[in-house]
Amino acid sequence: MKKKILTGDRPTGKLHLGHYIGSLQNRIRLQHEYDQYIMIADVQALTDNFDNPHKITQNIIEVAKDYLSVGIDPTQTTILIQSQIPEIAELTIYYLNLVTLGRLERNPTVKCEIQQKGYNDAIPVGFFCYPISQAADITIFQAEFVPVGNDQVPMIEQTNEIVRRFNRIYNKDVLKECKAILSNTPRLVGIDGKSKASKSLSNAIFLSDSSQEIKQKVFQMYTDPNHIRVSDPGCVEGNVVFAYLDAFHCNKEEVKSLKEDYRRGGLGDMVIKNILNDSLQLLLEPIRVARDRIDNNQVRELLLEGTQKARELAKETIEMVRTAIGIKYF
Ligand code: TRP
Repeated sequence: MKKKILTGDRPTGKLHLGHYIGSLQNRIRLQHEYDQYIMIADVQALTDNFDNPHKITQNIIEVAKDYLSVGIDPTQTTILIQSQIPEIAELTIYYLNLVTLGRLERNPTVKCEIQQKGYNDAIPVGFFCYPISQAADITIFQAEFVPVGNDQVPMIEQTNEIVRRFNRIYNKDVLKECKAILSNTPRLVGIDGKSKASKSLSNAIFLSDSSQEIKQKVFQMYTDPNHIRVSDPGCVEGNVVFAYLDAFHCNKEEVKSLKEDYRRGGLGDMVIKNILNDSLQLLLEPIRVARDRIDNNQVRELLLEGTQKARELAKETIEMVRTAIGIKYF
């Protein structure tokens, strides 16, 4: 029997190249070795978008199409919608008892998000508690491994603390601890060079972008502001075009020699942008073609099947949890 792994995405927008190198490529590989579950975390997405549910519901199908178009294979991977599995919400309620306010306040990822969102003293409780609900996401599917980026490590630690506490208090080995599978690719920078590629900052190249949009974004990329004439020596560090060439160009030797030429002077931004554009077009064209062939009804059907299958497993876990706590009366 293959071991179970679970990952998830908040459906707040279409997926972009940052997702591709950070998580999708891993998932495409891992689905052969593991029994993989991918959660479209709409309940979690609502914690900071509760006033705009349409954005979330609309993007569920888009994210699912992104998965399928890059090669996540629904015969190997179970794709599920979080909100349609109420057992996760029930498990979250039991877990709320096992975490202190102080512990939540120390979660560095949540701390950082609270600051970014400017919640100050008006933090919605649902948002504040999402790490607890994420612990339920992971454990309801008895996942042994969770492939995630560095920013999610505190969630895994929190999950394992809850698991240990639960097993200790209810005196049962009901829940499994999990391990992170860390992606070793660094965060992809946005085309503006300022921070990571992100939908909300409009600095990302989406998997579903048209050929024209890709080209436009490549030509907008931040390079080296001091590289004014072609003959000037240029800087490769902090230069977005080179960050993307490193991530997406298939010939590392060629990238290396381009960097040398750029540093020496004599290699223009237009030339490197054209080279990058060619490699991105090559990568994204087949994905876009695959995406265009996917029918919305087919996606809905797959999501329904995946969610139903996942729910069976969730029901088994919640039965064990209720038995362990002793709240099975009938
Ligand atoms: N918090 C994750 C993110 O923002 C999404 C997510 C929800 C998740 N539930 C999960 C990731 C369970 C891994 C496991 O990207």
